Amino acid sequence: MVMNGTMEKIISLCKRRGFVFPGSEIYGGLAGTWDYGPFGVLLQENVKQLWCHLFVNSRDDMYPLDAAILMNPKAWEASGHVAGFADPMADGKSFNTMFKTSIGAGAEASATYLRPETAGGIFLNFKNILDSMHPTLPFGIGQIGKAFRNEIAPRDFIFRQREFKQMEVEYFVRPAEWEKAFEEWRSLMHAYAEVIGLPKGSVHELEVPESERAHYSKRTIDFEFEYPFGRKELWGLAYRGDFDLTAHQSSSGVDLSCADEKSGTRFIPHVIEPSFGVDRTILAILSSAYDEDELGGEKRVVLRLKSSVAPIKAAVFPLLKNKSELVKKAREVFTQLKKEIPQIMFDDNGNIGKRYRRQDEIGTPSCITVDFDTLKDETVTLRDRDSGQQHRVPIRELPKTIPI
Ligand code: GAP
Repeated sequence: MVMNGTMEKIISLCKRRGFVFPGSEIYGGLAGTWDYGPFGVLLQENVKQLWCHLFVNSRDDMYPLDAAILMNPKAWEASGHVAGFADPMADGKSFNTMFKTSIGAGAEASATYLRPETAGGIFLNFKNILDSMHPTLPFGIGQIGKAFRNEIAPRDFIFRQREFKQMEVEYFVRPAEWEKAFEEWRSLMHAYAEVIGLPKGSVHELEVPESERAHYSKRTIDFEFEYPFGRKELWGLAYRGDFDLTAHQSSSGVDLSCADEKSGTRFIPHVIEPSFGVDRTILAILSSAYDEDELGGEKRVVLRLKSSVAPIKAAVFPLLKNKSELVKKAREVFTQLKKEIPQIMFDDNGNIGKRYRRQDEIGTPSCITVDFDTLKDETVTLRDRDSGQQHRVPIRELPKTIPI
């Protein structure tokens, strides 16, 4: 793997601090797979929750879905993936990157695929959403889940994997309204970049020429990010027209059209698809947050994560671990605070300097220290990750003072 120094440092931090581990490591690994450890899981949960909030839960025209990864293989024939989801190989032959698997035993066994995009399950449930939720156009369906691609050359840490996660929206519109919806989702995608703390101007749009678009797309914008290994695709926004619903309607024989109330005619809605890779989002967050600086004459590694994505919002320490009254009080502060802010941590390991370094490395925005003054006046010191500055705060004011 060709990487510059920053990627090696990020990969090393991810392993050292429990964010991401190489898949199947004790057996020598399995190319294209990575396992998320405790802090990686928390970071990922934040990324997903912020996505769900912005794109699904805060809107009344969006419906969440969790469809099966295994689907009837006819769906992948209809969608064009069996014929066209291929990676050109060096010798000019092409190779279908869908993972084949078999269902059932013996002669009864039949072949199918692990889904290469979560979108497939959304199109197959279009009619179920129409019939159960009775939405009016425009409306959309959002889904987060795993996708699988037998990439010829998985690389660049979690950037290109064989098993990864997507967050996708299929937004169904009247054909004449596609451009308006495309523009709305385009600006919402930039809003999401801001919500998760990607630096302003770090996400660039690339209009994908027709010759490079996926077989289903009439227009695609790639949202690219300046990764340590170069500017690469982070997310995609595609106009899939009526390609998918028309294909599934003719292949399944099930009517997937909607009625036009004015004219009384029926038509197949068109679809706008904002598609996000969870792992590429996490890598963008980690690579923009990774920093090294000097604080109080000491070198440190710090993840300058926005508090909204930080796996741990605050850590609580007793100043000295061998003073039982400090440990007891710190535990009390921790237990109380955890009721209001679940993503907090208690640490009394090593000296206070080491604890700060550990929290800086995992991007914890605030550290709270219980010292001898706390026992007298119910205040603690609150230390800011980025500046290292500390000030005293009454314990009761912590929940509203700590950025979350
Ligand atoms: N439904 C549309 C679709 O799947 P795509 O551009 O092939 O479009 C969407 O994939 C997003 O999924 C990408 O922008 C990227 O974030 C993520 N992605 C795709 N392949 C990936 C891989 N091998 N490893 C990690 N993420 C991947």
